[in-house]
Amino acid sequence: MKTAKVSLKTSLPVDMEKELNKQVRMEGMSSFYYLAMASWCETKGYINSATFLYHHFEEEKAHMMKIFRYINEMGGHAVVPAFGEVKLEYTSLKDVFEHILEHEIAVTKSINNIVDFCFQVKDFSTLHFLQWYVNEQREEEAIARRNLEIFDIIGEAGQGIWLIDQEIGNMLKQILAKETAKEGAAAA
Ligand code: FEO
Repeated sequence: MKTAKVSLKTSLPVDMEKELNKQVRMEGMSSFYYLAMASWCETKGYINSATFLYHHFEEEKAHMMKIFRYINEMGGHAVVPAFGEVKLEYTSLKDVFEHILEHEIAVTKSINNIVDFCFQVKDFSTLHFLQWYVNEQREEEAIARRNLEIFDIIGEAGQGIWLIDQEIGNMLKQILAKETAKEGAAAA
């Protein structure tokens, strides 16, 4: 019997589908991490940080869905993952932002591994698709580092922590302005 050289059902190599589904889970877990952090901040009175993190929760959810839809568009099967428990308690506001940087570095590594795999299996469509994530991770790591720098520049003592929360609110304003500019450019 002749072995089919191409699959008519999907353009994704089998292992690529698995890798992308793992990334769906990672992005989904990210969204819940941010949601838990937002809630913790809100209960402690760090309202601007909470707003920043609620916004990021929505972003991560969108990241998850973008991959989810791509898998099915390519003829694969996007799988709704089982989400585990997320960390609910933090020792300080700085602890929250340290976890964020650590987590975003892990996400970048995961994306880079899939990009590397794209080259190995010559899946150039997925390579092209993932370019958006490569850029996004660069931006997200830069924001996470900047947020931590704010702690060092202002200092947490006295009213410092209040000012830090204000600055994180300003960071969100800059992000939203950038997003609006991008949407405007895309619509033009
Ligand atoms: Fe979508 Fe921040 O990883």
